[in-house]
Amino acid sequence: MVLEDNWLHSSVWKQGIFAGKVVFVTGGAGTICKDQTEAMIRLGADAAIVGRNQQKTDVAAEELRKVRNGAKVVSCPNVDVRDVHSIAEAVRKTVGELGRIDFVIAGAAGNFLADFNHLSSNAFKSVVDIDLLGSFNTVKACFDQLRSNRGAVLFVSATLHYYGVPFQIHVGAAKAGVDALSNALAVELGPLGIRVNALAPGPIANTEGIRRLAGKNKTLGSSIPIGRLGTTTDIANSTVYLFSSAAAYVTGTVQVVDGGNWHMGYRKGEYPVKILEMNQEKVTKL
Ligand code: COA
Repeated sequence: MVLEDNWLHSSVWKQGIFAGKVVFVTGGAGTICKDQTEAMIRLGADAAIVGRNQQKTDVAAEELRKVRNGAKVVSCPNVDVRDVHSIAEAVRKTVGELGRIDFVIAGAAGNFLADFNHLSSNAFKSVVDIDLLGSFNTVKACFDQLRSNRGAVLFVSATLHYYGVPFQIHVGAAKAGVDALSNALAVELGPLGIRVNALAPGPIANTEGIRRLAGKNKTLGSSIPIGRLGTTTDIANSTVYLFSSAAAYVTGTVQVVDGGNWHMGYRKGEYPVKILEMNQEKVTKL
């Protein structure tokens, strides 16, 4: 587990605030979403985690069961969020075992670094399908439960589309769509008592994302206004706030949790040379 042992006691949150509630999390075995789930469980919720990989999802569910005595965590492996029926099956399993779904975290995402020249049409589509269509499908499959329980949705977005970020064309486009989806759903579903928000993490330490995106850049933390990389605990705390009754009047927002990073814009470094070289190479594949 990644949250510190004393997280619950040192945090501002009150024990048991999510007792009797169930959170359904796509990408729930990934570092960020797993820690969001852990925080919800520690505060009383039961959970279902949804993933593509059987072993990874089962192991994560087993670990999450241990964070609170009596916690129920359902593992829903072999689910591809690009297939709405596959998520619907996970919803049926969750409701069958846990009785309900109150909160939904649409966190499943795909990412890699690629310049435009090397980004095939299918690669672009793969990421847009996982991040954007997958987010739509997740809410679609959970809608009956959200409506019955006056639930809440949290999309995991990004800050990559606030300005031009090289090698992230696919993700920026997908996450811009996620924000648009979130805003429109907040307006449509508000009258049903369903709140919809997005959370946009900046660079978060010890995640697959930062390993893929920052690579060997060890100084990134010191160039962020708050002076460090984010932690999954930072994301977990924002998640708790947005699902809690403290945010009862908060919907249609994007909560940026990035230490002020995106306001610094795009840092040049060696990128312009690299981008030029990569885009000059002759690539035949579309
Ligand atoms: N650079 C350029 N293109 C890449 C790539 C890379 N690093 N990795 C994959 N692609 C391309 C593939 O070549 C393929 O395109 P093609 O058919 O034109 O050759 C396309 O992306 C789809 O790849 P595939 O492996 O079939 O897709 P997938 O659906 O199994 O995987 C990805 C989806 C590509 C997003 C994969 O990176 C993934 O599953 N990631 C999940 C985990 C993750 O990214 N976590 C980080 C979250 S921040």
